[in-house]
Amino acid sequence: MKFFIDTANLDQIKEAQDLGVLDGVTTNPSLMAKEGITGRNNILKHYVDICNIVDGDVSAEVIATDYEGMIREGEELAELHEQIVVKIPMIKDGVKAIKYFSDKGIKTNCTLVFSAGQALLAAKAGATYVSPFIGRLDDISTDGLNLIEDIRQIYDNYAFETEILAASVRHTMHVLHCAKIGADVMTGPLSSILGLLKHPLTDSGLAQFLADHQKGN
Ligand code: E4P
Repeated sequence: MKFFIDTANLDQIKEAQDLGVLDGVTTNPSLMAKEGITGRNNILKHYVDICNIVDGDVSAEVIATDYEGMIREGEELAELHEQIVVKIPMIKDGVKAIKYFSDKGIKTNCTLVFSAGQALLAAKAGATYVSPFIGRLDDISTDGLNLIEDIRQIYDNYAFETEILAASVRHTMHVLHCAKIGADVMTGPLSSILGLLKHPLTDSGLAQFLADHQKGN
């Protein structure tokens, strides 16, 4: 399972990269705004800065919602760096744009996916990644993990190559459940990755080992 970090914060991206387990980054317009990155040139530069920190794919989202606009923006983003994946919303023009980029060999991430039908369409259009938002489904009392299971079954039935990128991951249990179900990738905050480290028996066991070592010396 690949680990992506879902942030535009360069310090957090560096921290995850330094841990040695990071496979990529996802961003969205809200995450960019949260870091105070505004204006087209600053936004484009920030994507390049992120690419220079990580080795893997970096999702950069288009703002346009019409086909021509998405193509124009997506091509500009794809030219920035070879690691850029064009992130496109699951709307009618978005599906057409995914097909266009797929035919050109440009990687895409179909975002804002909340149903298995939408995931099927994204795969048919040739998306590299499909991003079902599990946390936001959980927020409205709908089991986001069920959606991952449904998509896994559909993609396996037909050997679709689109990777299931579990998005809107909020905590470590989301990560673990996604791993059990067979999501190809998860993207979450740094805390969802670092939380996997924690176990009180590890801490007490280590303290005991160090204390015993001291006694013997
Ligand atoms: C997906 O790529 C989105 O950036 C993200 O996972 C959304 O997460 P949120 O629901 O926590 O905002």
